[in-house]
Amino acid sequence: MARFIDELKRTHHDAELRAEHIGQTVVLFGWCASYRDHGGCVFVDLRDREGITQLVFDPDLKGQGDGPITAHRGAQALRSEWVIGIRGVVLSRGTNKNARLGTGDIEVHVVELEVFNKSDTPPFEIVDKLDTSEEKRLQYRYLDLRRAPLQKTLRVRHRIHQETRSYFDTQGFLELETPVLVKYTPGGARNFLVPSRMSPGKFYALAESPQLFKQLYMVAGFEKYFQIVKCFRDEDLRVDRQPEFTQIDVEMSFVNQDDVFRVMEGLIFRIWNVVLGIDLHTLYPTGRFPQMPFTESMERYGNDKPDVRFGLPHTDLTSLVAEHQGGGVPLFKAVADKLAGGRTELSDIVKGIVIPSQYASKISRADLEKLEEYVKGMGSKGLARAKVDGDGGWVQSPLAKTITSSLRLAINAAMGAKEGDLLFFQFGKASTVQTVMANLRVHLAKKLGLIPEVGHGGKFEFLWVVNPPLFEYDEEHKTWAAAHHAFTRPHDDCVDLLETDPSRVLCYRYDLVLNGFEIGGGSIRLHNPDVQARVFRALGISDEEARQKFGFLLDALRFGAPPHGGIAIGMDRLAMLLSGADSLRDVIPFPKTQKGTDLMTDAPGRVSPEQLVELRVKVIDLP
Ligand code: AMO
Repeated sequence: MARFIDELKRTHHDAELRAEHIGQTVVLFGWCASYRDHGGCVFVDLRDREGITQLVFDPDLKGQGDGPITAHRGAQALRSEWVIGIRGVVLSRGTNKNARLGTGDIEVHVVELEVFNKSDTPPFEIVDKLDTSEEKRLQYRYLDLRRAPLQKTLRVRHRIHQETRSYFDTQGFLELETPVLVKYTPGGARNFLVPSRMSPGKFYALAESPQLFKQLYMVAGFEKYFQIVKCFRDEDLRVDRQPEFTQIDVEMSFVNQDDVFRVMEGLIFRIWNVVLGIDLHTLYPTGRFPQMPFTESMERYGNDKPDVRFGLPHTDLTSLVAEHQGGGVPLFKAVADKLAGGRTELSDIVKGIVIPSQYASKISRADLEKLEEYVKGMGSKGLARAKVDGDGGWVQSPLAKTITSSLRLAINAAMGAKEGDLLFFQFGKASTVQTVMANLRVHLAKKLGLIPEVGHGGKFEFLWVVNPPLFEYDEEHKTWAAAHHAFTRPHDDCVDLLETDPSRVLCYRYDLVLNGFEIGGGSIRLHNPDVQARVFRALGISDEEARQKFGFLLDALRFGAPPHGGIAIGMDRLAMLLSGADSLRDVIPFPKTQKGTDLMTDAPGRVSPEQLVELRVKVIDLP
């Protein structure tokens, strides 16, 4: 191996050579991506991270002494994924050019071959499109990562990192680190716990985010902080959730919500420009993303991360149904009766969605049955529906028999329903109705071809969802809980509602939404200790409990904390949406499975009894 690498240095990468290099002697390194022995000559596609060059081992190559004969002999032993170095001469491919390859005009005729290492037969081919199961790919992730799509994705991540760093640097931000081993604090996301050998019986938590520390940086006077940082959450996993993930974390002093938005919009515009070559000004000429109040988002789309690439909004029919005392429909009547005392967070609700006639005609009876199963899978009792006829009557609907014409016409008017339209309804517990309707809307849009099943289809719709309530009602414990965290600043004109009507307190919290995914979230923080104390009181958190949970932050806030706020962008979600992938696992180099395991290293794993004794930890195996 001495001569190659030590003396024969690589002259080009495997996607570099063009017609202008013809006649040059070159040294290339890489893996054998494919191998064809055509009797006289051996052809190898040599692959490195940049691309592919065709090698020809021709024993009759003239003017190079015995080299080509020896190289040809060696080439007959080559197999897939062997890693080699070659010295050779660049020649034209003549009439056999390959227009699909950047290097397709040339081939390198090999004079000298060095096999750096052989390879076992790989468990799957290293090609762009694969049928191999994801489990197998994750088990041999280092081979999966050799494939061009993943190489490309990781380059996108690299570019996002570099652009992020340079953007924040030019904006005067400092990239500062925060601890990963932190104190466990209850509430928020579920933490991973780490036992401490030096403090037996005690545990660290792995930081779910740098939240408290970035606030301390503001108290310490650093003014503008950012960090590309790993966060850890022991949550149930979904396509857009991993137990360890990366945030672009930001905090700023002396800012309001709009200042935070401007900084983040600048970053997103830059990333889109550099990574996708898209100037977002064509979509957002002012350089600003639209904003939608949280209540509107919930009402029209059923959640706080609406995909606004398509319509199909919800209509909230709760008040209408109550006004008509159920309008002859027994199930509506049940909702109306419960509303008699006034609408609260716990009231049942009624929502509808219109499928316009041109799409409704594509939905078959079998489709309707599948839709019914789909909503039942989310805890709904069924999918009430009606088709609108010429006079505004309802057909193909169990509701049609009993509903009063006045409620029917009022619902048609509220929903803007016309002849041939299909109406779907959900009613009952608000949280279930909202979840079912939000998912149904997106599910229908995919089925009807309004958005692609996977990926962005070249369409990007950004949205800030703003002004949510500070508190949400915790049905289990029958108390108010912080919807985000206890350090979010309420709107000034809502502060006096803290004691009288917590449900109406809005706050400076915001989420950045892209195509139906929450790609970032943050808030302006509460820096005023008096208001902070009132928020804790509204949450039913005693002074003692507050001290126990957040003592060090409360102390810090008493030493001249500046007004501050920030945000964190989910880097992995950003990469997933940019690259049109359908799972975070496709954009994270070494991801965990849905069950949180690493199939390659077999983590998490058991440890020895001696280690457990040292940590004073006992494993209890439950049946
Ligand atoms: P939040 O919890 O909203 O805010 O997280 C910010 C963003 O991180 C991404 N994200 C995740 N991505 C992958 N897997 C996960 N398990 C996961 N959880 C969250 C999302 C989300 O929008 N400290 C606050 C930010 C702040 O207030 O400044 C925080 O962590 O894209």
